[in-house]
Amino acid sequence: MATTPETPQVYSPSAEFVAAANMKGHAEVARQAELDLPGFWGARAAEFEWFKPWDNVLDESNKPFYKWFVGGKVNIVYNCLDRHIKTWRRNKLALIWEGEKGEVRTFSYHALNREVCKFANVLRSMGVKKGDRVTIYMGRVPELPMAMLACAKIGAVHSVVYGGFSVEALHGRIDDSQSHVVITCDGGYMNGKIVELKRIVDEALKRCATVENVVVVKRTGHEVPMESGRDFWYHDLLNLPMARASTSETEVMDAEDPLYLLYTSGTTGKPKAILHTHGGYMVGVATTLKWVFDVKEEDRWWCTADPGWVTGHSYLVYGPLLLGATSFMYEGAPTFPYPNRWWSMIEKYGITLLYTAPTAIRGLMRFGEAWPNRHDLSSLRLLGSVGEPINPEAWRWYHRVIGKERCPIMDTWWQTETGMFAITPLPTMDLKPGSAARPFPGMEADVYTEAGTSAAVGEEGFLVLKRPWPAMLRTLYKDPQRYQDQYWSKYPGVYFTGDSARKDADGYFWIIGRVDDVIKVSGYRLGTAEIESALVSHPAVAEAAAIGLPHEVKGSAIYTYVMLRTNYEPSEALAEELKAHVGHEVGPIAKPEKVSFVPSLPKTRSGKIMRRVLKARAQGLPEGDLSTLEE
Ligand code: WTA
Repeated sequence: MATTPETPQVYSPSAEFVAAANMKGHAEVARQAELDLPGFWGARAAEFEWFKPWDNVLDESNKPFYKWFVGGKVNIVYNCLDRHIKTWRRNKLALIWEGEKGEVRTFSYHALNREVCKFANVLRSMGVKKGDRVTIYMGRVPELPMAMLACAKIGAVHSVVYGGFSVEALHGRIDDSQSHVVITCDGGYMNGKIVELKRIVDEALKRCATVENVVVVKRTGHEVPMESGRDFWYHDLLNLPMARASTSETEVMDAEDPLYLLYTSGTTGKPKAILHTHGGYMVGVATTLKWVFDVKEEDRWWCTADPGWVTGHSYLVYGPLLLGATSFMYEGAPTFPYPNRWWSMIEKYGITLLYTAPTAIRGLMRFGEAWPNRHDLSSLRLLGSVGEPINPEAWRWYHRVIGKERCPIMDTWWQTETGMFAITPLPTMDLKPGSAARPFPGMEADVYTEAGTSAAVGEEGFLVLKRPWPAMLRTLYKDPQRYQDQYWSKYPGVYFTGDSARKDADGYFWIIGRVDDVIKVSGYRLGTAEIESALVSHPAVAEAAAIGLPHEVKGSAIYTYVMLRTNYEPSEALAEELKAHVGHEVGPIAKPEKVSFVPSLPKTRSGKIMRRVLKARAQGLPEGDLSTLEE
């Protein structure tokens, strides 16, 4: 077995890297931002084209409903597309796409703009107006970013639902957003199999009254039912005279107008939608990407995330286009048909910047080094990680085997709510494997004790953010009260992240994990409530609880505890049926690892299930304070 040299705890970037980086003098930049937050973000915003400049960078008059770039008129899509096609970037590649079967499609900025304009014209002629919500439920095909951009261009608010979600999850999200239009595909390819997207939409729509039209992108070509008058093929619509014009006016938006909704599971079975806006989001996302990933004109950026999650929104779709970068997008599974698929594409397309999740790294690590070693990965110059804490072992493998010890790793901590990186290294900083380093310039983070004081160095506590930032969520859609309660009331005036963390003597943050009802499975964010409500919708189930337990590849896996109704007997077959039921209702990613039948669940006197007790018992740990336990 090959031996690896003893690796030092701190990795410093090379002098050449530092000299060439977009970010110069990060400590001074952070100091300036701290002294003058509006000045700092105002200077970043000035790098974009505004229809009308803002009057005021930050309005803090109605906390926690912060407003950014107040009075400014802008459209994020204008800065993603219109702005570039006026320059030489018109003929630069915006997007390179590879299908799971190996097909390749490429789009210059000119071509991408043309497609987006045509589809924007179609949406307008369907009656979609500024402020209307549109649900997008698709596989990873180029038409997915195009649909998002077309919505934003005309001022509609997109709500992308991850294509791995299923009927009930989709139904809840369409229903809550009151979308009139749904954009989908006949199916998607994943692991050589067809994912039924249109059929799931059809099932979900049986229960949604608002939807008038469904636009269907033909991807697989397999037979799907089309309802006359309601369902239309995307390619047919794009051939209509109304779509033909390859220009389309970009709507003038207020900086604070909504750009999109993104649903995450909340503490009740009902999902909640996080709302982001045009102006501040644009400035935050572009600045973080440019500095943290050092994106340059000649780079080829690959963010492996699905556009259905926030990472895809911020750093696959909007961020790279704002920077005029070339992105790569891949449709399918990392191991299809062999575990070298990703590495072969890095070689084929000369990817320079790779941004992925620890679960993917751990998953690919299991197949051994021979797979990546077959490929020339020398184009890579910077790597990234997101979604969950990266364990030092995976960090070192990524650094040594993929980055050949040349590429710094950006372990970016952020959330759907933050919209942009919040705690992250900059490529010019020293790195510690497993630490997300420091707050991005302009951000202020801390670790709090239960009582709301700063925790001591090395002490575990709650991660909080203490100053507003431009890409922050503005509210929870239709539920401003819940926005205040959930994020701003544990410590008044301070943003509560829901994570626990430690800070070391150098001020580096070490994220530990969620302290609430969120479970991160393979980096995907799921709520215990959505899984539990799927379980109790099965006739055999009286009550259910879901918890996350550590898993070698997935980070955490879902374990469920089920109390059966009288007349039902525990059995292996019933456990399997319940797993499949959750898969059908929520999606395959939510399928429990295990279903345990129990005679009762630990509850507080007020009837709340004490998941932390279940978690402690399952791991053989002390159960902590049980004074509120009913029995
Ligand atoms: C977790 C994903 C450790 C964290 C962008 C956070 C991380 C949640 C990291 C948000 C990281 C994300 N290190 N944990 N680098 N990045 N997380 O909304 O628990 O899907 O609160 O956003 O993911 O998940 P979300």
